[in-house]
Amino acid sequence: MKSYRRTLLVSAVAVGLSFAGYATAADIAKLEETCASCHGKDGASAESDVPIIGGISATYIEFNLADYKTKARPCPEAKIKTGTNKGKKTDMCEVAKTLSDSDIKQLAKYYAGKKFVRAVQTFDPKLAKAGKAVHLGNCEKCHANDGTEVKDDAGVLAGQWTPYLRKTFQEYRAGKRHMEQKMEPVIQGLKNDDFEALLNYYASIK
Ligand code: HEC
Ligand code: HEC
Repeated sequence: MKSYRRTLLVSAVAVGLSFAGYATAADIAKLEETCASCHGKDGASAESDVPIIGGISATYIEFNLADYKTKARPCPEAKIKTGTNKGKKTDMCEVAKTLSDSDIKQLAKYYAGKKFVRAVQTFDPKLAKAGKAVHLGNCEKCHANDGTEVKDDAGVLAGQWTPYLRKTFQEYRAGKRHMEQKMEPVIQGLKNDDFEALLNYYASIK
């Protein structure tokens, strides 16, 4: 039912867009180019410090770009990886600041329509097994199907880059990144070893 309503909504937006004219589409294409210079083609990031954003839900992307806009999420500096600005440094707060609400909606829809290409990473099978148990006991309820479920609007954990997730856990634990209210006690209740196990588990999912 939930996904049926979503489909209707998306097609309504698509019809709206086709009347918006070519300028908007061109603007969005230009913006995507900027995003791709760090996040890779269609959001399939090949860089371990830059999260994969292709195939994540539009709602999650919209909320998080809004959080960067208001700095509710910390903005670590990142080097532009490709293109004419290669090597220049910026951060997601700077990037989000230049986006209008309509840009955000369209970019979110664009990336939500792409495939989440899981990163190929090494992992320790023993830790991954322990991580699965931690996940099932604490996270599966909201990050369903081993953290692969897009419809939960909670990001995608399975196959996301480990260094990015490790840094995210540090931000959450230090209270630096806004957290879903019911996730907070769960995260704060885990031990250091649990996080390492979870990271290996998410890296093990292909
Ligand atoms: C300079 C490189 C760079 C550019 C350009 C860039 N990003 Fe990012 N983006 C990052 C990094 C690094 C992070 C992780 C930051 C953090 O830890 O919060 C990120 C995080 C994100 C996230 C959060 C992902 C998650 O799983 O929570 C979204 C959404 C996002 N970027 C969208 C975009 C969009 C859309 C554009 C283009 C308008 C863009 N980014 C341009 C480097 C970049
Ligand atoms: C009550 C529901 C709930 C529980 C339980 C929960 N989460 Fe979340 N989680 C969310 C939601 C919702 C978001 C998205 C919040 C946002 O957009 O800022 C999220 C976001 C995240 C993110 C950010 C993803 C990204 O791409 O940056 C990570 C990492 C995460 N959760 C890990 C976990 C782990 C690990 C557990 C178990 C130990 C857990 N969560 C338990 C609801 C939950």
